[in-house]
Amino acid sequence: MNTLFPDKINIYGKRERGLNMNRLMPLLFSSLAIVSIFSFFLINSPNPFPITSKQDLNSVQNQPEDDNDHRLHSHAVQVKQIPPPTKDEECDLFKGQWVPDLRGPLYTNSSCRSIPESKNCFKNGRKDTDFLNWKWKPEKCELPEFDPKAFLEIVRGKKMAFIGDSVARNHVESLLCLLSQEELPEEIYKDSEDRFRTWYFPQHDFTLMKLWSKYLIAADERMVNGTGSGIFDLHIDKIDDEWAKHLPDLDYAIISDGHWFFRVLYLLEGDNLIGCVYCNQPNITGLNISNAVRMAFRTAFKYISNCKKCKGGLLTLLRTFAPAHFENGAWNTGGHCNRTSPFGEAQVDFTKFDWEMRNIQIEEMKGARKEGKNIRVLDITRAMLMRPDGHPGIHWGNQWMKGYSDCVHWCMPGPVDYWSNFLMALIRN
Ligand SMILES: *[C@@H]1O[C@H](CO)[C@@H](O)[C@H](O)[C@H]1NC(C)=O
Ligand SMILES: *[C@@H]1O[C@H](CO)[C@@H](O)[C@H](O)[C@H]1NC(C)=O
Ligand SMILES: *[C@@H]1O[C@H](CO)[C@@H](O)[C@H](O)[C@H]1NC(C)=O
Ligand SMILES: *[C@@H]1O[C@H](CO)[C@@H](O)[C@H](O)[C@H]1NC(C)=O
Ligand SMILES: *[C@@H]1O[C@H](CO)[C@@H](O)[C@H](O)[C@H]1NC(C)=O
Repeated sequence: MNTLFPDKINIYGKRERGLNMNRLMPLLFSSLAIVSIFSFFLINSPNPFPITSKQDLNSVQNQPEDDNDHRLHSHAVQVKQIPPPTKDEECDLFKGQWVPDLRGPLYTNSSCRSIPESKNCFKNGRKDTDFLNWKWKPEKCELPEFDPKAFLEIVRGKKMAFIGDSVARNHVESLLCLLSQEELPEEIYKDSEDRFRTWYFPQHDFTLMKLWSKYLIAADERMVNGTGSGIFDLHIDKIDDEWAKHLPDLDYAIISDGHWFFRVLYLLEGDNLIGCVYCNQPNITGLNISNAVRMAFRTAFKYISNCKKCKGGLLTLLRTFAPAHFENGAWNTGGHCNRTSPFGEAQVDFTKFDWEMRNIQIEEMKGARKEGKNIRVLDITRAMLMRPDGHPGIHWGNQWMKGYSDCVHWCMPGPVDYWSNFLMALIRN
């Protein structure tokens, strides 16, 4: 039996909002109940079943961690204090450590008025501030400061979209706070669920979008008597058109995803069921999360590679998987994340599933890049594995879920703001 199931049983036992379990039980697997509620927490914290058990991922560990894909040539970055690298020496921006930096963040909860309640950690009672006093230091160079003015100049006249789940939303929210220090955008579109949004920066003619996608590919939630079951059919040969239809308009597409794969999934190719994740049905091929993630990202990147209507200058960035940091349990079993300072690299467990997730995503990106499209990696996984202190934890300000920790999303201000330093370094290059 899969080690994830105990967690799942627990969560379903505990949380039955809007779901009559007795009515449902006959339909269900004896060992598995269904969550139907796509409640506020799940929408905001799409990683309800983080894998906490150590898995033997030696194959992943042994993969070379360095590849030229995410290297930037040294002339692309401002080098301070340390001598500039020699001509052949390249700087991997994503490999380094967090070092003390007492200058503090570029914004506060008063200078940025758009911090969402769920990430406004200080407003919600967080007292420790040390987690703000660190900056990311690549091994061989410096990561350029985030400069909202320079950023807006680079993207003048362009359209940029963040495509993915609520962690992609977290990034766009952070970028908005950073940019609003220079220019306040107008919000020109927002759907009722905060899943698709568009902002416009008139002084720079810059359009910023959030395009929601749980899986990047087409997915249908199975309904049980009109109620969502939390079980999805994924169509591995079909793109999720809700984001894909916008691709031809874009100059920058920042793709990420991953937190919705930790659940029962049925994978279909055309009309054929090719397997399932966690379904435990003897007549269906059992696949694991890695297989599903790989198929989804392969389809998404293939779609981008083959996009004939896309602009020639389209730059696609894979923002790699953002790790969660639940300790001593999952989110629903008392797991928490109350650390107040970063880890060093030696404290990071690279056998955790987060790292495999990142590697799969990068492998699929590389496959697509061979087709000639401009696709690069914004590889935050390593840096963020070192930031167990960056999450809201219990300070996330949702009343009915009080007592649970959000160890998936990131406080604002906080280390999530560095994702935009990486972004700026990549688009400037
Ligand atoms: C769905 O509704 C029908 C008719 O009301 C009922 O017979 C059936 O048991 C319900 N199924 C579930 C899973 O609740
Ligand atoms: C900002 O955080 C402080 C606590 O540090 C809190 O008292 C205040 O209400 C917050 N302000 C806003 C606008 O969120
Ligand atoms: C697998 O077996 C179940 C139960 O016998 C059946 O309902 C289902 O249709 C089967 N699925 C496939 C793909 O054959
Ligand atoms: C998933 O399955 C593949 C084989 O299809 C295997 O190589 C990989 O290690 C598995 N991943 C996990 C996390 O079990
Ligand atoms: C974090 O929470 C755990 C469990 O509630 C507690 O034992 C520990 O002391 C806390 N650590 C900090 C730094 O608050």
